Amino acid sequence: MSTAPPPRSLLRELVRAKPVEQSLADTHESGHALRRTLSALDLTVFGVGVIIGTGIFVLTGTAAKNTAGPAVALSFAASGVVCALAALCYAEFASTVPVAGSAYTFAYSTIGELPAWIIGWDLVLELTLGAAVVSVGWSGYVQSLMESAGWTLPYGISGADDHGWSFNLPAALLVAVLTAIILLGMHLSAEVTRVIVVIKVISVLIVIVAGLFFIKADNYDPFIPPAQATADKSGGESPLIQVLFGYTPTDFGVMGIFTAAAVVFFAFIGFDIVATTAEETKNPQRDLPRGILGSLLICTVLYMAVSIVVTGMQKYTELSSDAPLSDAFKAVDQEAFADIINVGAVAGLTSVTMIMLLGQSRVFFAMSRDGLLPRLFSAVHPRFGTPTRAVLLLGLVVAVLAGLIPLEELSELVNIGTLFAFIVVSIGVIVLRRTRPDLPRSFRCPWVPVLPILSVAACLWLMLNLPVQTWWRFLVWLAIGLVVYFIYGRSHSRLHLRGASDAPAGTQGP
Ligand code: ALA
Repeated sequence: MSTAPPPRSLLRELVRAKPVEQSLADTHESGHALRRTLSALDLTVFGVGVIIGTGIFVLTGTAAKNTAGPAVALSFAASGVVCALAALCYAEFASTVPVAGSAYTFAYSTIGELPAWIIGWDLVLELTLGAAVVSVGWSGYVQSLMESAGWTLPYGISGADDHGWSFNLPAALLVAVLTAIILLGMHLSAEVTRVIVVIKVISVLIVIVAGLFFIKADNYDPFIPPAQATADKSGGESPLIQVLFGYTPTDFGVMGIFTAAAVVFFAFIGFDIVATTAEETKNPQRDLPRGILGSLLICTVLYMAVSIVVTGMQKYTELSSDAPLSDAFKAVDQEAFADIINVGAVAGLTSVTMIMLLGQSRVFFAMSRDGLLPRLFSAVHPRFGTPTRAVLLLGLVVAVLAGLIPLEELSELVNIGTLFAFIVVSIGVIVLRRTRPDLPRSFRCPWVPVLPILSVAACLWLMLNLPVQTWWRFLVWLAIGLVVYFIYGRSHSRLHLRGASDAPAGTQGP
């Protein structure tokens, strides 16, 4: 049995970092070690699998129509650049500390236990809500495909809310099936993802190639529509930047491109989730940076091409907000292409939901292995090689959320949670370079500390553009996390129980 460590200053304890060597050693702990089966190609496919989803299939229309016009392609480029800054930081970290848990693990190695807990808690929110929101979007697409084939689900199980509440059975069933696949092993999850990614990338390529033939140059005029004041937003809906500094973001014009960049940011979320599979990668030092940066690059190029084509096919003012890609084809009387694109969207949202569920279970697993959550959630199933209890618990929570609650407006919480993680990882790179210059880094982020500082500034800018009510919800979630930490995590932390080094964050030697 562990004996309680001697009393120490609370602050020192809260910012005590877990030595990188300890994190690496934990990956071999008997009964709590994951299986290494993934290659660089698998990771890139995972990345594309989780990145391409609601963002490109839905948000392109809203962002072009309301905020950027045809220049939405530049908004995708701007958002892609912000993500690339963070991705370079993730790549360095993932190649230095290739342990499940992504930003949580990186924070534990650099800024200490309490910040790590906060970021882990934040990632659980991002991924739980992300998976639930996307599965609800999936259900909408599936039901519209069913309706075009003449089938309508009974109201009570459709998830619709126009005549009172109803359970979203398709969304809950999707989560249940995906949870079963994740449970059965990483090999099966990788196979399923591969098939789905092929379908969705083909449908995106169809939009690009077939759409080229229907572009009308007139639709690009004006490419950057004249700026106009945003529709009045008040109270909780105003962006934080407006409340704090009195700056009101504009629609259209050059600044509209950046406002839209905050909207389409959701489309890029996911490359960070690749890092959660670090412990299941055969050669993580080499392959994680490839998977993270490769998937982000592929998606940025596809996004810019899709948005250029779609805004060329249809005047931006006429793009649909629900299904802009397929509707652009309907507008030029190409129904067959529209159906193919809808099938691609369904496939796309399936893999986004699945990999978010998977990533979430790996963060939960890492927190549990460190003792910050009950240890039973990090037990690895001897046959499947997966943390089955964590997968089951989280699958159940997401299925219930997806079935019961209309979630659209919570998607901004996913953005804020992700941006917060990007900031922590970017700061972590600077900290680890100073505290542990000796660690082997097979990938080095260029221009440290300038690039990570730029990454922090860019993420902060996007966060400031989010509504006040999103900030409040986020802060409430973090406050609940703090209570859980002080009631459970702090006293059960293995680092605490081991009475490991007493030194504050980042001062441990090798
Ligand atoms: N990037 C993912 C999507 O667009 C979250 O659905």
